[in-house]
Amino acid sequence: MKSVHVLLAFVLFALASSLASAYDPSPLQDFCVAINDPKLGIFVNGKFCKDPNLVKPDDFFFTGLNIARNTNNQVGSNVTLVNVDLFPGLNTLGISLVRIDFAPNGGENPPHIHPRASEILFVQEGTLYVGFVTSNPNNTFFSKILHTGDAFVFPLGMIHFQVNIGKTAAVAFASLSSQNPGVITIANAVFGSMPRINPYALARAFQLDVDVVKALQAKFWTSNN
Ligand SMILES: *[C@@H]1O[C@H](CO)[C@@H](O)[C@H](O)[C@H]1NC(C)=O
Ligand SMILES: *[C@@H]1O[C@H](CO)[C@@H](O)[C@H](O)[C@H]1NC(C)=O
Repeated sequence: MKSVHVLLAFVLFALASSLASAYDPSPLQDFCVAINDPKLGIFVNGKFCKDPNLVKPDDFFFTGLNIARNTNNQVGSNVTLVNVDLFPGLNTLGISLVRIDFAPNGGENPPHIHPRASEILFVQEGTLYVGFVTSNPNNTFFSKILHTGDAFVFPLGMIHFQVNIGKTAAVAFASLSSQNPGVITIANAVFGSMPRINPYALARAFQLDVDVVKALQAKFWTSNN
């Protein structure tokens, strides 16, 4: 009987720790400001934490998100990601912020995934066509047209995008449920990987002629962030 309890406890523990490691670890103290020099650090939970006695208000502060970014690039959008690397006070808090600028008439934040975060997006100005696709087998597409003041949520790990369908520049802000959400831009990862994936493998997967794949792979893939 006792061994059954031990086994049960072990299974519960394994389940709990696997659930816990699927997301940012929960904070183990009020805050844990990131610091790169371990000599100045005292706890470890994510990045090294700065000695609380040395923490300043500026560690919890970021400025400049009012400034429009340059969207003159391939996709017509510019993502300013404020993650733990730029904002040390985010360390261990499981949260980060982005500003997204969209060029008029079709500026797009192209289909991408955040491997570690759900995202809630708020439209500050403009009109966006947004959506995400669920996992196999259904691959259901959920989409909306968003206007100024609207919000939309993109669940963890889903492929999602936003397109400016208005005639003027648009700007959105989004919060993500990780201090370091990560981003995988689908087209760049698939056709612009280094080194390139064997084009025959992609031709089969995408039901494309291999020459079309080679043409896509020959393009110059840049990211908007
Ligand atoms: C985003 O905008 C900034 C400032 O306007 C610019 O320096 C940067 O090159 C832009 N990034 C992209 C990917 O266009
Ligand atoms: C997926 O589609 C099937 C068949 O239409 C349906 O029965 C099922 O409920 C759907 N699942 C989800 C998660 O939407």
